[in-house]
Amino acid sequence: MKIFVKGGYQTKFGELWEKSLKDLILEAGLGAMKQAKIKPKEVDLVIVGNKLSGKVGGQDHLGALAAEALKVKKGLRVEAACASGGMAVHEAVQTIKAGEAETVLVIGVEKMTDKNNGEIAKALMGAASKEERRAGLSFVGLYALMATAYMKKHKASKKDLAKIAVKNHKHASLNPKAHFPKEISIEAVIEAGMVAEPLGLFDCSPISDGAAGVVISSKGSGVEILASEIANDSLGLAERKSLLELKATRKAVKRGYKRAGIKPDEIDIAEVHDCFTIAEILAYEDLGFCKKGEGYKGINKPVNLSGGLKACGHPVGATGVKQIVEVVSHLNNKAGERQVRGAKLGLVHNVGGTGGTAVIHILKGNL
Ligand code: COA
Repeated sequence: MKIFVKGGYQTKFGELWEKSLKDLILEAGLGAMKQAKIKPKEVDLVIVGNKLSGKVGGQDHLGALAAEALKVKKGLRVEAACASGGMAVHEAVQTIKAGEAETVLVIGVEKMTDKNNGEIAKALMGAASKEERRAGLSFVGLYALMATAYMKKHKASKKDLAKIAVKNHKHASLNPKAHFPKEISIEAVIEAGMVAEPLGLFDCSPISDGAAGVVISSKGSGVEILASEIANDSLGLAERKSLLELKATRKAVKRGYKRAGIKPDEIDIAEVHDCFTIAEILAYEDLGFCKKGEGYKGINKPVNLSGGLKACGHPVGATGVKQIVEVVSHLNNKAGERQVRGAKLGLVHNVGGTGGTAVIHILKGNL
């Protein structure tokens, strides 16, 4: 059975104080259905990817909320930390493969900026281990531990990390839907205030609001989903043998390449999970885009044309769906100024926590 992405839509990411969670669900859902040229009654199920709404917004039961708002038959919600969006797409693929639906609308959504950063950081840490919470760590702190280990082992510098932020802000400057559509300099990244050594303000993805939607279906044609794979690892970093790789990414992508029948160098474009600059460097290595220990030197492949989590923004539940919207727009030759010419094969990499979950999608255009 072939499964396609029929259409996708992203709302503006940023501080959207004037928009409610329901407004964002409606905009993303209606936008995706319009792009896919389908009506709500043709959708068998809506799956919502969201992490924080119950905890910080007081709103649970998002499956029913989305089904009612969008006039779709059935709805359910999926949570997998910052990989909630990617996991929701994976669930849609599994449901269609199982023969339980033909067409599924997936929406990733998050409202984060109505609360102060302390509350959000605490709520995000629900995705970490109990020991990490007890130690008072944040996700910036956890990725800072990984960055420190990496820099020591491979003799990488803060400048090497900064180059990732500069690249992704450059891409975001061409994306009006990005949270920070502006370029920054290497000096600004290196000199920015320190959040958790060695990660400064511009090494971090921001706290954002936003939503994205995609229609997944076994009917007709569209961008084909060649592989949808997930893998897990320990929640806590202390249980891992190495801080220099995300095992879950390695496991999921190995299965993904096998299922798709392709090799890493055949991927034309990728959106990878750069919640912090070090995460994009590790992703290059874990996805097989370069050798282990060489990610900090950079790669030639176009990665994170949306601006990535770093500059497009990271409304956590929306991210995995937005990444698919971006790659699909390139494979459909509709990415405007950001278009990667001739892109045929795309990869999407979405991570939960520090790698407790990894979701991989491999997509093929039909142009
Ligand atoms: N990248 C670029 N610019 C950023 C930014 C970011 N990540 N975060 C904030 N800014 C900008 C703001 O727009 C603001 O600019 P202005 O003064 O021109 O308006 C300025 O920097 C300060 O913003 P502020 O909101 O006060 O920053 P903060 O210090 O409260 O928060 C972080 C910054 C990095 C601590 C916060 O964004 C954060 O915690 N990020 C990580 C979120 C996270 O852990 N996600 C899960 C990943 S697994």
